[in-house]
Amino acid sequence: MSIVLGIDIGTSGTKAVAVDAAGTVVASALIEYPLLTPRPDWAEQDPADWRRAAFEALSKLASDLGERVRDVKGLGLTGQMHGSVFLDADGNILRNAILWCDQRTAPQCVAITEKVGEAELIEMTCNPALTGFTAPKILWLRDHEPDVYEKVRKILLPKDYIRYVLTGEFATDVADASGTLLFDVKNRRWHNELMGLLEIDTDFMPQAFEGTDITGRLTDAVAEKTGLPKGLPVIAGGGDQAAGGVGCGVVKPGVISSTMGTSGVVFAFSDDIRRDKEGRLHTFCHSVPNKWHVMGVVLSAGGSLRWFRDALCQNEKAVAEQTGRDPYEYITGAAETVPIGSEGLLFLPYMTGERTPHKDPYAKGAFLGLSLRHTKAHMARSVLEGVAFAMRDSFEILREMGVPIEQVRAAGGGAKSAFWRQVQADTNNAPLVTINVDEGPAYGAALLATVEAGMHASVEEACDATIRVVDTCKPNMTHAAQYDAWFREYQQAYHALAPGFRRAAELL
Ligand code: XUL
Repeated sequence: MSIVLGIDIGTSGTKAVAVDAAGTVVASALIEYPLLTPRPDWAEQDPADWRRAAFEALSKLASDLGERVRDVKGLGLTGQMHGSVFLDADGNILRNAILWCDQRTAPQCVAITEKVGEAELIEMTCNPALTGFTAPKILWLRDHEPDVYEKVRKILLPKDYIRYVLTGEFATDVADASGTLLFDVKNRRWHNELMGLLEIDTDFMPQAFEGTDITGRLTDAVAEKTGLPKGLPVIAGGGDQAAGGVGCGVVKPGVISSTMGTSGVVFAFSDDIRRDKEGRLHTFCHSVPNKWHVMGVVLSAGGSLRWFRDALCQNEKAVAEQTGRDPYEYITGAAETVPIGSEGLLFLPYMTGERTPHKDPYAKGAFLGLSLRHTKAHMARSVLEGVAFAMRDSFEILREMGVPIEQVRAAGGGAKSAFWRQVQADTNNAPLVTINVDEGPAYGAALLATVEAGMHASVEEACDATIRVVDTCKPNMTHAAQYDAWFREYQQAYHALAPGFRRAAELL
């Protein structure tokens, strides 16, 4: 039976999977690497770490597949979006890549918005200037490291640097390109006029392909080094959100995914271009050819819970170590003992600023309403509830935009906890289903590769053949009504605190 591979150049590590035509994962690998934070709001990675991890992960797949490696028919790429890899004329890495969660570019976002105009920018690219996006990173480099900028000849997104390493080709896909703020999302091509306005050389950006297109083939040297077949087609793939959407079967109207990873993402399919006038949701090309998607991004979703675990739950970690269980089981277990609404304790999860709905790099996390009655268990529950409220903000905007919401599919690490799934269903007052696979973007990238390999006729067919619903978590109507009231409080809390966040940033 034919096999395809998918590789995801993620933020905490690179994951690779081998998938057969029935959708079964027949081999997988995960290689981790560090996140570098040279300053509090900065986030960088060394692309050489991704390169090492990609070789290691692909070699492991090849060796685990053994004889079956001959059946491998294609490789799809995906990865963290928006990051910038700056290359010189010889394809050498000029500096560490600046990542999607880096917040250094607030001044460059203001400069872009002033130069182009906010409404015009949304008209041109479907999105506003946000610190995570690629264009402000390019301007930051020009402003702060002109000597480096002078040497730049190509700017690649993280997975596209790996594509270059594997195939020698400069290429990207329309979904990942959408997150650069230099892409004409409506017409699915680079926005040369905008690049002209921002004085960015159009030759810097690689050619953009639809998600299922071939962009090159594995070089002989790479095939030799990894043990994968010579000339293996490498497929465009997609940014991790679009590929993750494919991996959850979000390839038709009405189906939405709600992914709780480090960031939390509410991702909706769209047959045509839909924009929020205020740019609170991102409108990007989908990896499904000629389709789009709309998504809300909560920067610290699982990230908030991880912070809570690491900052305040040393005991739970120690006990988990002894019992061989996951510390999150103890944390969610404690949260479950607390009444709904955490007895008035609200948590704002803006630990690394926020994109949806506030577009505010200065926003910060907060516990509001602490009293002597509150315990760590209350805090745990309020973190789970606060993150779920943040996700509901995105659902509310989708509803305002008239995007159909028929089925919400839970994905990511946060989908593993039945209790957190129930909190999400209750806060959003909508059922939340789980599906048979939760391999994330790498799986979606592999499904994208099945089309070119002739294993499925289309992305939709690939998803129908491999993905099915296995469980539904229905909202509890009484809880949903109570949460409704707390959600309004949650929404107002940010607006009350926002000026203070800004002043605090200035003081710092
Ligand atoms: C999407 C986004 C993140 C990154 C990291 O817009 O910024 O989800 O892709 O995974």
